[in-house]
Amino acid sequence: MNTDQKVQKNFKGRDIIDINDFSKEDLLFILKLSRKFDPFFVKRDRSNYTIAQGKIAAVLFFEQSTRTEQSFRSAAQKIGMGIIGFNDPESTSIHKGESFQDTIRIMDSYADVLIIRHPEVGAAKKAAEVAEIPVINGGDGPNQHPTQTMLDLYTMQKIAGKLDGITVALMGDLKYGRTVHALSIALSHFKVRQIMISHPSLTMPKEFLKILDSEGVEYEQLDKLPQRLSADFLYQTRVQKERFTDLNLYKKIKDQFILGKEFAKQLDLGVKLMHPLPRVNEIDPSLDAHPNAVYFAQARNGLYIREALLALVLGRL
Ligand code: CP
Repeated sequence: MNTDQKVQKNFKGRDIIDINDFSKEDLLFILKLSRKFDPFFVKRDRSNYTIAQGKIAAVLFFEQSTRTEQSFRSAAQKIGMGIIGFNDPESTSIHKGESFQDTIRIMDSYADVLIIRHPEVGAAKKAAEVAEIPVINGGDGPNQHPTQTMLDLYTMQKIAGKLDGITVALMGDLKYGRTVHALSIALSHFKVRQIMISHPSLTMPKEFLKILDSEGVEYEQLDKLPQRLSADFLYQTRVQKERFTDLNLYKKIKDQFILGKEFAKQLDLGVKLMHPLPRVNEIDPSLDAHPNAVYFAQARNGLYIREALLALVLGRL
């Protein structure tokens, strides 16, 4: 059995909860497999449409989402799956007082894979402890959003042609942003230089910096965007109002680190602009048409990653 076959076997029935559970080999394998679903790399194979025929995805969204929920729904259907689930827990018997665990137990018995988003840290892990089928974390509060990280890596690798040797700047809400936490750690598997740009009250938490230190990652922390950013990618993030307990602090800093029209000059010089979306006002829409503004392409890449992941955990690839 070669390395790819071993990694592939390792994915069948696996929960996708935390990006830290994935080795460099796992991540590279997912990125490679996702190309099978990406029309940029291959003409879509008709057999892809029936890879997971007869299987059911339960999409359980306890918190709002556009991209994660809809791309999982689309991915599941594109590989032949049926879908059940909800995005308004108040429409379920949770409203009558049914527990989270009982809800998961019931959905576990109706489906073949659970995809869950929840505002509480650890909710996906809690679901995986109850469920017998694979659980995929679609975001648990400010903690983890592993499939976002995978699609971010995929986007960088697709555009740059590599991960080793690139420089990635992370900007905005580095304190509460689960996407930047997970991305920073995932990038530490590769020879990637990191630049962290944030307001001093929203810097990357120490526990993540410790991991980067232990991995020997080269990084710097800045409190403003340089006139000439020396990076391949700038990963911009939203200041997350919903995570703040002090709304005055939110109001004070929410409009800092906005990328206006003038950022087009840096895009012209080759910086690729990414954002996990949704954006509120942190990127001027006039930048959208620039070929190096890649955030919508980034969101589309989520489809290919999620098709590959669903097929993998179901043992259909
Ligand atoms: N990037 C992301 O997770 O977007 P949604 O919250 O819309 O799913």
